[in-house]
Order: sequence, then C-alpha cells, then structure tokens
Amino acid sequence: MSADKHELDDEVLSEREELLEVEQAIEDRAPSAGAARAAEALRGVAAEPGVAKPDAILVADSVTRRFGGLTAVDVDHLEVQRGTITALIGPNGAGKSTFFNLVSGFDTPDAGTWSFDGTDISGKPAYQIARLGMVRTFQLTKALMRLTTLENVMLGAVGQKGERMGVAPLRFLWKAQERQIQARAEELLERFRLSHMRDEFAGTMSGGQRKLLEMARALMVGPSLVMLDEPMAGVNPALTQSLLAHIQALRDEGTSIILVEHDMDVIMSISDWIVCFAEGKVIAEGRPDDIRTNPQVIDAYLGSRRALQQEDDGAGAPAPGTAGEDEEQAP
Ligand SMILES: Nc1ncnc2c1ncn2[C@@H]1O[C@H](COP(=O)(O)OP(=O)(O)O)[C@@H](O)[C@H]1O
Ligand SMILES: [Mg+2]
Repeated sequence: MSADKHELDDEVLSEREELLEVEQAIEDRAPSAGAARAAEALRGVAAEPGVAKPDAILVADSVTRRFGGLTAVDVDHLEVQRGTITALIGPNGAGKSTFFNLVSGFDTPDAGTWSFDGTDISGKPAYQIARLGMVRTFQLTKALMRLTTLENVMLGAVGQKGERMGVAPLRFLWKAQERQIQARAEELLERFRLSHMRDEFAGTMSGGQRKLLEMARALMVGPSLVMLDEPMAGVNPALTQSLLAHIQALRDEGTSIILVEHDMDVIMSISDWIVCFAEGKVIAEGRPDDIRTNPQVIDAYLGSRRALQQEDDGAGAPAPGTAGEDEEQAP
C-alpha cells in the first residue's frame, strides 16, 4: 500500500470520525422548549397532504408553475404552522426551490394564491414580502464578493428611510437609521461568530461562512418566517452543527422556519413537521416518525434512485446532483 493511499485513508477516517461526532451531537441534543411547543401545537394534526394547521403562518392554494411542458410546482393546498421548523424534502427536481421562489416573490406562478400571516401576498415582489417579515436564503449563496461582510449583512435591511424619495435629502434622519442598521448588523455578526470577518471581503470567506452570512442578512428585517434553501450544502461538519443550533435557536425564539435539506439525519432530528414533494406535488406530510415509514415517501426516493438508506450511507456528502450546483463549496 503506497504512502499516498495511507494518507487518503487517514483523511477519510478523520472525516468519518468528525461526522460521527456530529451525528452523536445531533442525537444528544436535549429537546428544546421550542420543539415541545411545536409538538403541542401540532398535536392531533393528521399526517395527510394539505392538512389544515391550527395556526398557519403560510397558506398556499393551487400554486402552479410550468417551464415549457414541465410542471415544476403543482401544490393544491399547503399550510405551514407558525413557530415550527417545517422541512421540505423530496428528490432532486421535485420543485422545492421553485416553490420557495414563487411564495417569496422571486418568481411568478402560472396560477395560485398564497398568504402570509393572514395577508394575501400573491404576486407581490420579494422586497415587499421581506418587509412583511418573510425572507429566504438561496441554495446558491448570493454574497457580494467585493463588499465586506458587514456591508453584505447591512444589505439585508429593507424599508430604509434613505431609500425613499423625499426623505433622502434629510440626511440627519438617514444617518441615524444607518447607525441603527449597522448596530443590528454587528449584533448579527456577533451572533453568528463572524465578527472577526467584519471588514473582510465576502470573497475571502469559506462556503460555510457565507451560509452563515446569508442567514445573518436574512435576519436583518427581524422576520417572522425564514425560508432556508439547503443551508447546509457544502458546509463542513463542524459548521453544520453550528448552523443547526442557530436554526433551532431561531425556532425557540418563536421564528417560523421552512427548511429544504437533503440530509435525512438532519431532517429527522430537527424538524417539527415534514412536507414531502415529488414531481411538484405535496405527496406526504407529517411528523418525522410518520414520514420515516411513509410508503409514498420511500417510493418517491426509490423512484429517483435516492433511497433514504442511501442518504444515510452518503457520509454527509451532498446528494448527487446537488453538489455541483453549489459554487460556494469550500475548496
Ligand atoms: N428556470 C427554470 N427553467 C426551466 N426549468 C426549471 C427552472 N427552474 C427549475 N426548473 C425545473 O423545475 C423542476 C423543479 O426544480 P427545483 O425546484 O429546482 O427542484 P428541487 O429544488 O426540488 O431540487 C426541475 O425539473 C427543474 O429542472
Ligand atoms: Mg433545490
């Protein structure tokens, strides 16, 4: 056996060990007050596609999006319970990201209506939806490489007085607000342990740090609903662990989270509710234990050659087909 091969084996071994530690940490995590509240709120809700929730923060009706002959999203009815971590799962190409784009105002559906916190927001642009308190992050991070970390986070502030015509000349007002925005951005950098990167260009950050940066930016508006599209993709195990903790902490503080994630261990351990998409439709909903054994869910994954078991064996590597999409993966 060559020396190179030995080194490679060692590397694989230590990665494997790191992963096992993360899996153990996930398992050991004490159930939080937020998780208990979520479970209580969802008690008695049937595990059926389109089921009504006691206190939905997002409600979508007949939302359809076609690309040429392909129907990417065809959601009959979906409700997301407030204060929960609700996961969207489903094979690659199931329509999860497209659904995110539609409801967050980054894409326009062919049909459908949806409301956030009781307000009809169908057809509203993303910045208006963000002002109402619903924000999303992207599967591919959108950090601006030539701005500093702090500037990137500050960009998350919307509805600034300075943006509006008429107020802009009142520079003293604008200045005061900019100071507030900066203070909030610095608080968030602290929260995500990015303060040391404050004045560095985002281009110098690792893929994982950029994921944290995106989350910090999303939180600038003090949202009540955060939609995270594969926040863990391409992130090393240690940072994955910290991202998970941040997501749970947000839920514990009362923020509603919709999470797209392919790692089944992660999904099963942190979700209060799981919605499974396949070919644009919601084919199953329920608690982790309902979903784990749901034949439709297993079929959907088997049908796309991505059995749940395979996800487990994947040693946390991004699922095939998603890895290449993530330009921000750390070298
Ligand atoms: N802009 C687009 N143009 C054409 N087809 C698209 C576009 N965006 C997504 N699709 C297609 O829509 C389907 C759903 O994609 P997507 O929402 O990205 O799935 P997921 O996020 O669940 O992996 C896929 O078949 C994809 O190829
Ligand atoms: Mg996607």
